[in-house]
Amino acid sequence: MQPSKNFAVIGNPIEHSRSPELHEAFAQKTGISLTYRRRLADIGQFETSINAFFNQNGDGLNVTVPFKEDAFKSCDVLTERAKIAKAVNTLWKEDGKLYGDNTDGQGLVNAIEAMGWSLSHTKILILGAGGATRGVIYPLSQAGAQEIVVANRTHTRATQLVNDLAPHITNHTQLSTLALEKLTGHFDIIINATSASLSGDHFSLPKELTFDHAYEMAYGKPSHFLDEAKKRGVPYADGFGMLVGQAIESFYIWNGIKPNLKDFL
Ligand code: ATR
Repeated sequence: MQPSKNFAVIGNPIEHSRSPELHEAFAQKTGISLTYRRRLADIGQFETSINAFFNQNGDGLNVTVPFKEDAFKSCDVLTERAKIAKAVNTLWKEDGKLYGDNTDGQGLVNAIEAMGWSLSHTKILILGAGGATRGVIYPLSQAGAQEIVVANRTHTRATQLVNDLAPHITNHTQLSTLALEKLTGHFDIIINATSASLSGDHFSLPKELTFDHAYEMAYGKPSHFLDEAKKRGVPYADGFGMLVGQAIESFYIWNGIKPNLKDFL
């Protein structure tokens, strides 16, 4: 029998994290023996805390708010998608080196595909231009999106993000911006990557903007964005599937087995 592996999720705050229950459920399903704990790090103590974890036989760490950029800066080796996201949510050690990946975007892709919403040749509108948007554009492009439009309250932030990411995006995906106050046109999927739901801010969408599917990246919070989707009668989902999707990708990196997302929704 393989010895039990040790994992944790590090953040501040951390007590709300659902990662332990997800990884324990994956372990049970796949027959892997592991422990998965919550790890609180003081602000400014991220590096000290991860070094202590790996020195005490830690096998892998998930990283959550507010440390994903610290994790990005701490790694010796980064995957392509982590480099593009400029944020890391999955850490492990190999040959004494710290490796970092970002599974958030692929988690979103997996969640969307698990619902049977195709991404191939689609026109996607993303609301928001923060870290959440940065992390998903490349994986959405890799999954076959034909057009990705970014709309943000602060328009210059959207144009900066698009200019920054454009060199990494393959030719089959057209990347552009749209002013938030001038939202118009038809999209296959609209994704809310703003933090408006987290802060309870009101959010309205003009009727000139139409869409077939709506995805809210936040979960467990009332969402004006999803209320609008419900009113329009389009299929919608909150971010729980993305949370499960990113956890599955981390589990796969560490354990070499990929649980089936649909078993955990
Ligand atoms: P994250 O890392 O979660 O993306 P962030 O970098 O703070 O967090 O970005 C939050 C995003 O939500 C930004 O795009 C922000 O718009 P601004 O760039 O204009 O600040 C957007 N956002 C937050 N509250 C919003 C609201 N009430 N309406 C519209 N956009 C909002």
